[in-house]
Order: sequence, then C-alpha cells, then structure tokens
Amino acid sequence: VSKETKVGGGDLAIVIMAAGKGTRLKSRRPKVLHEIGGKPLLSHVIAAAKRIVPAADIFVVVGHQAERVKDAVAGTGVQFVEQAEQRGTGHAIQCAADAIKGYENVLVLSGDVPLIQTETIETLWKFHQVQHAAMTILTAVPEDPTGYGRVMRADGSSGTESAEVTAIVEQKDLKAEQHGVKEINSGIYVFQVKPLLEHLHKLTAGNRAGEFYLTDMAALLRAAGERVVAIEAADAAEILGANTIAELVALDQTMRMTTAKRLMAEGVTIFRPDTCVIDAEVQIAPDTVIEPFVQLLGKTTIGSECRIQSFSVLENCVLGDDVLVRQSCVMVGSKAANGAQIGPFSRLREGTELAEDVHVGNFVETKKAVIGRGTKAGHLSYIGDAEVGGGTNIGAGVITANYDGVRKSKTQIGNGVFVGSDSILVAPISVGDGALIGAGSTITRDVPANALAVGRARQVTKEGWAEFRRTQQKQTKE
Ligand code: UD1
Ligand code: CA
Repeated sequence: VSKETKVGGGDLAIVIMAAGKGTRLKSRRPKVLHEIGGKPLLSHVIAAAKRIVPAADIFVVVGHQAERVKDAVAGTGVQFVEQAEQRGTGHAIQCAADAIKGYENVLVLSGDVPLIQTETIETLWKFHQVQHAAMTILTAVPEDPTGYGRVMRADGSSGTESAEVTAIVEQKDLKAEQHGVKEINSGIYVFQVKPLLEHLHKLTAGNRAGEFYLTDMAALLRAAGERVVAIEAADAAEILGANTIAELVALDQTMRMTTAKRLMAEGVTIFRPDTCVIDAEVQIAPDTVIEPFVQLLGKTTIGSECRIQSFSVLENCVLGDDVLVRQSCVMVGSKAANGAQIGPFSRLREGTELAEDVHVGNFVETKKAVIGRGTKAGHLSYIGDAEVGGGTNIGAGVITANYDGVRKSKTQIGNGVFVGSDSILVAPISVGDGALIGAGSTITRDVPANALAVGRARQVTKEGWAEFRRTQQKQTKE
C-alpha cells in the first residue's frame, strides 16, 4: 500500500524522537526500551507509525545507548538518525534535517508517548492539511496538566480549534498567569518541512533547562508569519507520556486494560482483569475463561472453551480448544491440542507439544517433549528430549535421564506403553509399542514392542525376621 492511499494525499516522513536518557526513571536502561504491555515503548510508537507510512519513511532519532536501542527495534525496518549529544527535542529534529529535507511534511512522534492510536494521528494529519498550517500540534486537556508544556492560543482559550497557537511554554518556564492554562502539548506534531527547516536553526537554549526546545518552533514560526494550529485529541489518555516509573506502570495498566476489554468484547471471560497480565499480542477465542491472577505473555494464542486457572503463567504458548490449565502452571513455548489437561503445578518448557486429550499432572516437568494423543503423565515426572506415543501411561515419578554430563540424548516411547512408577529411562533409549515396564525399574537397554522389562534388584523376603530383631533389641536394652 502506498503512503498516499493510506492517508489521503501529501508527502509525509515520520520522525520518532528516542535519543533521550530518561533521567527521571533513574534506570540504566534507556527510557524508550522500558516496556509496557510486554513491549518497549519505542516498539509501540514504531508500530503506530508503520500504520501511517512505510518503514523506509520512518526515522528514529537515537543517541543515549544508541546501539542498544537500534538492536531492540532493528527488525522493524525503520531508518535511524544519530543525535550523539542530547541537547533537546529541537536539536533532535535538527539532527534529522538531512533525512527529512526531501519530504513535504513531517510528523514528529515521541518515543515515550506509546498509547497514541492510528486514528488520532490520521485526524491530526488531515487537520494539518486542511488548515494549510506550517505547524499543527496535537493537544489534550487532561485532569492534571502538571509537567507538560502548555499550549497558548491567540484567544486565550483551551482547545478552540479555530484559534491559532502563539506559543508552547514548558512547565519549568511557565509564568504565574500561565499556570491556569490546561491545554497541554502531547509532543506530537506535523510540520511543513520547508518552513520548519527555514527556521529550525533559530532555536536557542535560553531556557531553564538549557536545551533546544522543539516547542519553541510554535512562537518562532508564528513570528515569521506562518500559521500554527492545534487540535485536541479525543481521549487525553492516549497522549500520556512515561517519564517516571509510576507513569510507566500507569500506562502499562491502561494498555493491559485495553487488551482485556478487547478480548472481553470478543467473547472471552476474564475474571478480575485488573489482576491479570495480558500482553497486547495475545489472541483468545470466545467462551474461554481466564481466572484471576493469570499472566498471558508474548504471542500466546488460546482456542475456545478453555479455562486458565489462577496463578498460571503462559508465554508464547499455543492452546487448542477445550484445554484446561489448572492452577499454578508455568508454560513457555509449548503447544497443547484440543482437550489437553495440564496441572495443577505443571511446568511445560520450550518445545513441549501435547496432542489431543493428553493429561499432564502435578509436579510434572516437560522439555522438548512431543506427547501423543490421550497419553497420561499424572504425577512427579521429568520428560525431556522425548517422543511419546499415544495412549501411553507414564507412572508417578518416571524420569527420562536425558543428560550424561556431556550430551543430551533422546528417549522414545511407543503407543500404548505402560511405564511403571518411579522408573528411570536412561537415554538414548527406545521402548516399543505395547511394552510394559515394571515399577521402580532403571532401564538402560531398548525394550522391544509388547515386552515386559523389569530392571531392579530381586525382592528378598525373610519370614519372621522383623519380629526376631525386635526381641533381640529388647534383650540388649535389659
Ligand atoms: C516534551 C515537550 C512538552 C510535552 C511533552 C509531552 C519539549 C521541550 N517539551 O517534554 O512540551 O508536553 O514532551 O510528552 O519538547 N529526546 C531526544 N533528544 C533529546 C531530548 C529528548 O530524542 O535531546 C526524546 C526523548 O527520548 C523523548 C522525547 O524526545 O522520547 C521527549 O523528550 P522528553 O525529555 O521526555 O520531553 P518532555 O520533558 O516530556
Ligand atoms: Ca516525555
């Protein structure tokens, strides 16, 4: 899809400012790599930008820990611009001047304003075009404007679309009489590139922060006789920034609630959604029930009629329909087909694949284990690097000894096998279809189909011996 057909005319580049350190987070991690909804702030902003223009027209300004930031989003195909020294948002755009000079318009997004929706950007972009403005500012009137730059309108109003903007004043630089202005700058703007680049070099750092403020372009452009306008976002929550950990956590909560509401609208029941952690990309089919305190992370996909009980954590898992995950299971990179039952207290690690109607019970750990239809492993087992057929019974406490201290070996168990409780299968090993392994066996050699294998010391029984010993002990005491 070309950019023209997406937004209805006009030639547009997008610059995402992401070079800042995020001093107020007091973190070693750069601000834009802090996560909400399970993904870095910057990834959310890039995703929104990519719905407006192709990745080739998106320029991310990086600076603080540039390599780390680039690595984190390299897969998105966006371009990068370096701002080696971070001297303010105006300076960030100065660094991007060469990148954008061939375009007619530039949309500026902030890497730390991640909830912005495509529709809002499109409304801003259309308003900019209709208004023939040199600069169009996206604004909001939140309950508490503290900390944000304030938008000064020519008529002194807050949010009258027809009133032109005279200036943006940062919180630190507010004059006493300006504290009452409730309309804030979102940090999201569209500029006509020509007037922007004509006046961009005029920015000075003569403010409280000693930075080159992009926000000063409003007054600069107006002084040059250019038109500066602003449009208020429909929902102030979309443009909230993440400057502190508390703000990050609040945004995370908002985003997860949005995900939970989306899923509920699609027919999923989520009890106490405020206690669940559900990442943005999770998909769940209707009639599935999510109990309180569940975490569904990454690209987890869940079918219909499933139930995920409390305290279970699923990351990058795929469940079919009618799957029951009982309490306190930990599942990573695993698949479970229709009708599977898991837990309570099961741990399914990377590469586990359960076929239809498999039961995996309490304190069972699996890793790279492909388990066939209807097989049951009810209690206290480790099944790793294993292929297990269908209709097999894995007794309580069965262990696949897959590691000899140097390498990992495979265990193969056929269909309809009965592995007695507390057996150890020393890999590499294979057990044929229909075989039976006696409880407590240590199996070191392959077992053919339909055979009985017992590998344990023969039982010794001495009649009356226990009673004899008790009598002896009594006599010594006396
Ligand atoms: C900025 C606006 C403020 C607005 C708010 C909205 C300015 C001067 N102020 O303030 O009016 O209300 O956003 O969220 O622009 N960055 C760079 N290079 C730099 C400095 C910052 O790339 O040299 C990036 C940051 O990584 C961040 C974004 O620009 O993603 C905004 O910078 P930040 O310092 O958070 O600005 P605010 O103080 O929030
Ligand atoms: Ca900010």
